[in-house]
Amino acid sequence: MALLEGKVAVITGAGRGLGAAYAKRLAQEGAAVVINDIGKDGSGKYTAEAVAAEIRAAGGRAAAQTEDISTTEGGTSLLQAALDNFGAIDILVNNAGILRDKSLLKMDEADWDIIQKVNLKSMYTVTKPVFAWMKESGRGGVIVNTSSVSGIVGNFGQSNYAASKAGVWGFSNVLALEGAKFGVRVWTLAPAATSTLTAGLLSEDLQKQLAPEHVAEVLLYMVSELSGKRTGHTIFASGQSIRELKLVPAEGLRGEGMMLDARAIAAGEDKLYRTEAALNVMDFAR
Ligand SMILES: NC(=O)c1ccc[n+]([C@@H]2O[C@H](COP(=O)([O-])OP(=O)(O)OC[C@H]3O[C@@H](n4cnc5c(N)ncnc54)[C@H](O)[C@@H]3O)[C@@H](O)[C@H]2O)c1
Repeated sequence: MALLEGKVAVITGAGRGLGAAYAKRLAQEGAAVVINDIGKDGSGKYTAEAVAAEIRAAGGRAAAQTEDISTTEGGTSLLQAALDNFGAIDILVNNAGILRDKSLLKMDEADWDIIQKVNLKSMYTVTKPVFAWMKESGRGGVIVNTSSVSGIVGNFGQSNYAASKAGVWGFSNVLALEGAKFGVRVWTLAPAATSTLTAGLLSEDLQKQLAPEHVAEVLLYMVSELSGKRTGHTIFASGQSIRELKLVPAEGLRGEGMMLDARAIAAGEDKLYRTEAALNVMDFAR
């Protein structure tokens, strides 16, 4: 039996890449899908229209929506598109995101601001109206927010992007708490997949291993009943590994009414730090 029969999903930035793979997979499992994307192809046509047409040609239900999700109007119009086309919303995938890679000293204010606006502010503009509807309708729902290991463990030349993606992580953790009593489950997804930029640089075998379709299968698990009542988790997903990312503190220096001076803190370093090496972004590339 299809996993998402009768469900309505909205996916931002779904005109290509991971978002398009998510849209096709959720539609295969019976969901009606709103495909948002401001992007156009070489001939000036919205990519969202082509993805929606492909899904409909395969017998699925899909509508394209081409608003800019980083504005309040765009965010609100996305909920409206779901209601106008399919009468409800059960699943929101906040997927759209952009890069402006530069080391901090080469970065100007515009590179910083546009990244925060598209990657982080969109969490507010898109999610708030959808979350309100999920609460007020009594239907609950599932929301997946896209972060990145770059934001969680850091990556050279991406301070603007990492700041926005760490922001998504924090936003998502709070929304999981706020959504719990309304039946709204919230996940953070840190994906890795071939993108339009990297596809040409990788061998055919690696391209297959890192195809967005692998991540789409993880997304399907997250938004369907297969994951039960789970909420508040952060999952890294690629065609090579799928695993939860979780903050685990060191044992630490403790004691009742403890007031340690700096020398005592230095003397207690064996408890202050974890001894395992911290993961870096390349540790996720296998
Ligand atoms: N591909 C990876 O390995 C990887 C790794 C970590 C995180 N991510 C994140 O996953 C998400 C998808 O990545 P991808 O590789 O598929 O990217 P992509 O560039 O192929 O697709 C992103 C889509 O978002 C759309 N978009 C950008 N700004 C928009 C806006 N304001 N309103 C509506 N649509 C907008 C673009 O037109 C594009 O089609 C992004 O958030 C990205 O940061 C990807």
